[in-house]
Amino acid sequence: MEIKSLKPGTNAKLHTKTGDFECVILESPNPEIILVKLNSGYNIGIRQEDILDVKIMKGKESKKEKNKPIKQNKNLKNIALVVTGGTISSKLDYKTGAVKWLTDPEELLEFYPELLEIANVKKITVPFMKASENMDYKDWKLIAESVGKLCNDSSIDGIIVTHGTDTLHYTASALSFALKNLNKPVVLTYSQRSSDRASSDARLNLMCSARAAISDAAEVMLVGHASINDDFCYALLGTKVRKMHTSRRDTFRPINAEPLAKITPEKFEAFTSYRVKNNEKTGVRANFSGKVALVKFYPGQDPEIIDYYLKKGYKGLVVEMTGLGHVSTGESSSNWIPYIKKAIKSGMTICAAPQTIYGRLHPLTYSVGRELEKTGIIYLKDMLSETAFVKLSWVLGDKIMSRDVKKNMLKNYAREYSDYIKVEDFLN
Ligand code: SIN
Repeated sequence: MEIKSLKPGTNAKLHTKTGDFECVILESPNPEIILVKLNSGYNIGIRQEDILDVKIMKGKESKKEKNKPIKQNKNLKNIALVVTGGTISSKLDYKTGAVKWLTDPEELLEFYPELLEIANVKKITVPFMKASENMDYKDWKLIAESVGKLCNDSSIDGIIVTHGTDTLHYTASALSFALKNLNKPVVLTYSQRSSDRASSDARLNLMCSARAAISDAAEVMLVGHASINDDFCYALLGTKVRKMHTSRRDTFRPINAEPLAKITPEKFEAFTSYRVKNNEKTGVRANFSGKVALVKFYPGQDPEIIDYYLKKGYKGLVVEMTGLGHVSTGESSSNWIPYIKKAIKSGMTICAAPQTIYGRLHPLTYSVGRELEKTGIIYLKDMLSETAFVKLSWVLGDKIMSRDVKKNMLKNYAREYSDYIKVEDFLN
């Protein structure tokens, strides 16, 4: 086969001097180099002269079918999709080798028609299409409003929100706090590889999400691969989950908690108790404040960082503290106590969350912690710092809750605190 005639978008198996590669051919600026995307998602260039044999493979990339109306089966339950962007809503651009947004959200169903064997997709809402690192508290509100509307739509049994992975755990927390009296399943899902890739994790994640969305669990759940294998997913509590790996399919892990359920495309098997579906009206309380920051303490950090946020008009700060809840109280230039006192006196709320990620803060164990505790810092026990950041933004943005920030920060609204952390919960 003439290698030069390989068109961008062709699935091929290349036998080369350095090894065999299953890949998709990309447009290359240099005719001597064949640029390819590997199944791993990485792009590499291979010198033409190094290619010994080429086998063309059939693949989804060559599919050019026009969007059809979404098939409905009256024997299945109805779900809605809220599509917000991220890798799961993207496909490969063969010209650049980069991924770009799906032109039409229905395309997702063309890639994964198996989803429609589990549930009818009755509605698709697209509040925006963004990479999740570009989202902020205003986007959490838009998503919460879209989801809230669907919660109160009696023709819908459950909702799937598709989202980028980078900040998915922030949005999962935001929805957990913002949706009051949740009446049906709200499932957030993702993929680490674009949806048109044969190796994409989107298929299993979407099928298990559909299974969760038609379950009787009225919870905000993040559903995704339980391991690197393509066999089952976990449903994880929206406030007790974190992205823990840059690229693995099972990047989301439960923190200081056990998974809520194990899910296969066929079965939703709960591990813990959950709120069941009900006929309450779901409310949306989503006036998050943009004047909240998350600061990680590091050795030698200048405490003037607190002054910086104070001058900028910030109302709240979550500090990721070391160990059981410490920051420097050493030499005067690096002593955080006067800065913390000044900020709290000026009306700023300062909260502490564990930078160890796992475990619980115990500020009274060491004298340093006792000194810090006296300043009025709110110690947030075992709450994840990202969840704490979202919660502080939620409490401070709300007219009523912001009247008593401490009480509301310490109240367990969405299982953000665990009474008891099991030994097995650590990196389970
Ligand atoms: C994003 O978070 O939007 C991009 C990365 C991803 O979806 O995995």
